[in-house]
Amino acid sequence: MIKNYVSPEEADKSTLHIWGRHPLKGNVKISGAKNAALVVMAAALLSPEDCRIRNVPILADVTRMGQILAALGVKIEQREDILDINASNISKSEAPYELVSQLRASFFAIGPLLARLGEARVPLPGGCAIGARPVDLHVRGLQAMGADVQIQHGMVNACVTGASRRLKGAKIYLDYPSVGATETLMMAATLAEGETTIENAAQEPEVVDLANFCRAMGARIVGAGTKKIVISGVRHLHSADYSIIPDRIEAGTFLVVGALPGSDVSISPVIPDHLTAVLSKLEAIGASITIEEGDRIRIVAGETIKATDIETLPYPGFPTDMQAQFMALLTISNGDSVITETVFENRMRHVSELNRMGADIRVKGNHALVRGVPLLSGAPVVATDLRASAALVIAGLAAQGQTTIQELQHLDRGYEKLDYKLQQIGARLQRVPAETKQESLVAGCELTIK
Ligand code: EPZ
Repeated sequence: MIKNYVSPEEADKSTLHIWGRHPLKGNVKISGAKNAALVVMAAALLSPEDCRIRNVPILADVTRMGQILAALGVKIEQREDILDINASNISKSEAPYELVSQLRASFFAIGPLLARLGEARVPLPGGCAIGARPVDLHVRGLQAMGADVQIQHGMVNACVTGASRRLKGAKIYLDYPSVGATETLMMAATLAEGETTIENAAQEPEVVDLANFCRAMGARIVGAGTKKIVISGVRHLHSADYSIIPDRIEAGTFLVVGALPGSDVSISPVIPDHLTAVLSKLEAIGASITIEEGDRIRIVAGETIKATDIETLPYPGFPTDMQAQFMALLTISNGDSVITETVFENRMRHVSELNRMGADIRVKGNHALVRGVPLLSGAPVVATDLRASAALVIAGLAAQGQTTIQELQHLDRGYEKLDYKLQQIGARLQRVPAETKQESLVAGCELTIK
């Protein structure tokens, strides 16, 4: 049975109270990568045999993906950070709307279902706070592989034409190096007849992790992590026992926390090569970075936070998933920074809430001009999306006084026990259910963690 760490109902009501300007010191354990775990869970549909996936983060999104797989007839068990999946008897080729609408990543089921069953009916994933999130590149690639794809009434109905009902290898060029489209098409191609080439492929580490999981099941994939991936289809994929990579975005988020004044934070496990752009920018703003024993990074905050410009790009460029967190840090820099978001069209929603805390940020199109201010002030704020929530937590840790953050369900989608991990390095914060009265909070927050 899939266990929730924090049930969506609970998360919707609780509030995070943060008392800022306490130096943060200590070690943080980084969990498995959410954006690898979700797609690897979908890839387990490709095999009729037992798959064990290790180092899976305990997150609301993982819970939801497990529920979607179970609805398709997959047997799935979660014990701590281990998932046991058996997709021998997929009874349905349709993912239920009420579950898909809560998790866009459930669209990852379409490739494996088409590859295994020759058909798939998956609700069109809606947009979200950060953008329209179209799936045209996924659809066009599947069509190139011989799928007939019709989108009607919000459903994507796909089926493989031809007597064999088997996808055919194709040469595919992606107009944009979409992570999701690269992953969908790579999964579909593992069981297709013949060779598939994906040009202008996404190079993110999560794409490589997915390829390594599929290869552990017997798939033939070369070039993952480069702009050209070649997949030679096989008839059958077997069982695999696989461990997910550490989450580079959680790691980057805690490194930004470690760049706050007076802080000295170590994170592990981590793969430093996955964070080159982020580490470069942290050194540019004056933090000192040490890589220890290969899988641990220590960051010591600089005397001041220098301004720097950021432009988000596909990997290995600066990750869009770190843009909001870095913006929160730059609000208290000693100068002006320009942040340009090139990946998503609406990923500046954290700006208004940061300005409520005394930041001086102006947005023009996909550029944000961040004028450093000496100090933020705590305020009640509302989270709008996953990474914006992390930015508000960082701002709360930097601000004078108390910050309260609502709509924590966004945070629980992508960060495992963030409040607990922060408390472990000295953060003064408390997560309280809705009915808790303000006066019952411990002033100054000498915490008693239940
Ligand atoms: C993945 O989303 C991640 N999610 C995102 O992380 C991440 O921000 C993004 O990659 C970019 O790195 C998961 O892996 C579950 P894309 P994905 O397809 O695959 C356009 C987080 O915070 N596009 O690379 O949806 C799209 O509109 C989340 O953890 C098309 O136009 O990202 C966007 O502008 C947020 N047509 C750009 O490409 C398509 O068919 C990048 O999207 C697909 C995408």
